[in-house]
Amino acid sequence: MDNDVIFQPLQFRNLTVKNRLFRSNISGRFDNYDGSGTQTRINWEESFARGGVGAIISSFVPVHLRGRIMPNYAMIDSDDKVPFWRALGDAVHRHDCKYILQLSHSGRQRDNPGVENFRQKGLSSTSRMDTFHGLLCEAMTLQQIKETIQYFADGARRAREAGLDGVELHASHGYLITQFLSSAINDRTDQYGGNLQNRAAFLLEIIRAIRKEVGADYHLQAKLNAVDFSNALYPWEKKGNTLAEGIQVAKWAEEAGVDAIHVSIGSIFPHPLLPPGGFPPDELNWWYGTMISSGVLGYFNYTMFHFRLLRPIFTFFWARTKKDHPIEAVSSQYCREVKKNVSVPVINTGGYQDGSVIRRVISEGYTDAVSIARPLVANRDLPQILQSGKDLPDKPCSFCNRCLVNAVANPLGCYDVRRFDGDHDRMVAKIMEVFHPSQFSTAAPGSQLM
Ligand SMILES: Cc1cc2nc3c(=O)[nH]c(=O)nc-3n(C[C@H](O)[C@H](O)[C@H](O)COP(=O)(O)O)c2cc1C
Ligand code: SF4
Repeated sequence: MDNDVIFQPLQFRNLTVKNRLFRSNISGRFDNYDGSGTQTRINWEESFARGGVGAIISSFVPVHLRGRIMPNYAMIDSDDKVPFWRALGDAVHRHDCKYILQLSHSGRQRDNPGVENFRQKGLSSTSRMDTFHGLLCEAMTLQQIKETIQYFADGARRAREAGLDGVELHASHGYLITQFLSSAINDRTDQYGGNLQNRAAFLLEIIRAIRKEVGADYHLQAKLNAVDFSNALYPWEKKGNTLAEGIQVAKWAEEAGVDAIHVSIGSIFPHPLLPPGGFPPDELNWWYGTMISSGVLGYFNYTMFHFRLLRPIFTFFWARTKKDHPIEAVSSQYCREVKKNVSVPVINTGGYQDGSVIRRVISEGYTDAVSIARPLVANRDLPQILQSGKDLPDKPCSFCNRCLVNAVANPLGCYDVRRFDGDHDRMVAKIMEVFHPSQFSTAAPGSQLM
């Protein structure tokens, strides 16, 4: 399949990627509590590079401790983290794969604040509690906004020093930058609130600060919501940004200096539409308690998940929005509209696995590339399978979202036991391989340093 659109290189202003398959961001608690990285993280990332994706977009990498979603995530908040990221980049590069680091700040959306942030409110555009998990927050002062912009710029400089191929701004899924962008969340009355231009100011100042720090020739992309769908869960929530607003933000981001837009949807995480698919109440009952015990006030949700009789109420609200959207290529229609309005390449996330669907969205102009998270967790060799001419692996990802729900407490991996013929031990053994480089990975450089 020499002319397969999936395997044509993609040229950005400052970066060339060998094919159109990007590993999408997928967080897991693989690192040390203090935010230093581990060999396990390197094993994890290298396994996707070996599987054949053209580029990996990292998991959520906090630019500051206060913006961490949970402990055990490698951070980029200080210069002493650079050697770890260099070792990780070297391991990925050995497989002709690029590595783009996602610069992130949780704002109020912290699933597990950890001891350092315990009983400390998250920073946000607002002081209003988030209505999904019950996360407390306080509106940032102008001084805190200024400092946080510089944290992002410093993170980008460190990624460049580490020899990584680019950075992505996490400006989607309800994290800090979305909390400024979204009309459903931002209730400020100063220059960072009110009309769309003011709400976008935080994002655009970060982009300019990064350009000032890393120059014009370093790859910078933004993961943006094309549409917020904030009212998706409970009817009393505000609607959030429309598609027209999402497109306008993408245009401004391009003007300010981004080289690509990674198009997503949904102003909370998880959202009924993203990651699309199931939301298993049994696993929620087992693992949501981890958040409660770490200080998150999610008692309402936990009660819903815990008592079987209440589960249908939650499921009703959760499923309301989903009915109009397929799982596969869930946000492609919105991505196409963004693509029509920007000249930089776009990457689309959400429900990509089937080769025929990926070929169609690229060749029909919906997107230039796709990013894939869960189907690659299930089958690292998906790129090789597609290249061999098959459209699906023998045991495809079922989009059940058990990996997602487990990730707050357990090692990241595929938790759909049906894919292991019902054999729980075999499933766990597969998940635990990431801790054993001899089974999972070739030796990675610098491991003794971590
Ligand atoms: C366990 C898990 C962790 C995720 N972590 C992140 C993250 O750190 N940053 C991010 O932007 N998206 C994150 N996502 C969203 C994915 O990058 C992706 O956009 C979404 O899952 C849809 O793609 P998929 O259908 O290929 O899984 C995560 C998704 C899952 C399932
Ligand atoms: S648990 Fe496995 S099958 Fe289910 S969504 Fe995650 S990777 Fe896919």
